[in-house]
Amino acid sequence: DVILHNDQFIREEELVISKEDRGYQFGDGIYEVIRVYEGNMFTAKEHIDRFYASAEKIKIVIPYTKDVFHKLMYDLVEKNEINNGQVYVQITRGASIRQHHFPIDAPPVLIGYTKTVERPVELMEAGVRGTFIEDIRWLRCDIKSLNLLGNVLAKQEAYDKGFYEAILHRGEVVTEGSSTNMYGIKDGVVFTHPTDNLILPGITRSVILDLCQEAGIQVQETAFTKTQALEMDEFFLSSTTAEVMPIIEIDGQTIGDGTPGVLTKKLQKAFAEKLN
Ligand code: PDD
Repeated sequence: DVILHNDQFIREEELVISKEDRGYQFGDGIYEVIRVYEGNMFTAKEHIDRFYASAEKIKIVIPYTKDVFHKLMYDLVEKNEINNGQVYVQITRGASIRQHHFPIDAPPVLIGYTKTVERPVELMEAGVRGTFIEDIRWLRCDIKSLNLLGNVLAKQEAYDKGFYEAILHRGEVVTEGSSTNMYGIKDGVVFTHPTDNLILPGITRSVILDLCQEAGIQVQETAFTKTQALEMDEFFLSSTTAEVMPIIEIDGQTIGDGTPGVLTKKLQKAFAEKLN
């Protein structure tokens, strides 16, 4: 495989990362995961816009125009002949003698690589189980930061208990998943947390909200509580890799009749049609 190091394509064996890279020492950087379907990056523009927005929020200046960056991602996919897979890309504040404040002279360090991934079709058909876990992350969850400890600990706790995903909540309020956005459907209305500082503005989330609009499904970007979550007719999560994933059970309590809901399946179908 070829990997991207700044604007150079190199072999993985050639990659050198400093012991004092700030991504490594402080989690001081941001990232994106872009899905590739049939050789094409899905919603590339949206991911690139969010990458630049995240960088700006933490005051990293990406030294390429968005067009140049897009071309780098495109070439990476092409060079690795990725058909169905993903691109992972991150940028850190660079390498400099370890001190908390920003270095003056360190250029940012960009890394991109690809891998082949199939769509999780079986899970999407069967649905998955979730568990409530307190959201202990910081108050800038809108930034796609490399600092993922809060997410990682929540996901691990869920996995250890045998669940697919942690459904994070701040007090009573459900925010999002450890690496996904969350939705409940009640009486035909899709509820999801508004895009503020407490959740990542998911690209899949915005695709889904557009699909709802096209299908005439009502949406309310209003936060709901844990109690309300358990009373939903349907529940699902979304992400670049999980797409529209039904949640059929939360902490042992079935949602609806315990199978993927009608509107959830409709959205899955509409989503799949977007990929052709
Ligand atoms: N996760 N919320 C969080 C905390 C996430 O990390 C992600 C993405 C999402 C969904 O965003 P999107 O639809 O743009 O993928 C929501 C990626 C896939 C990851 O970390 O692997």
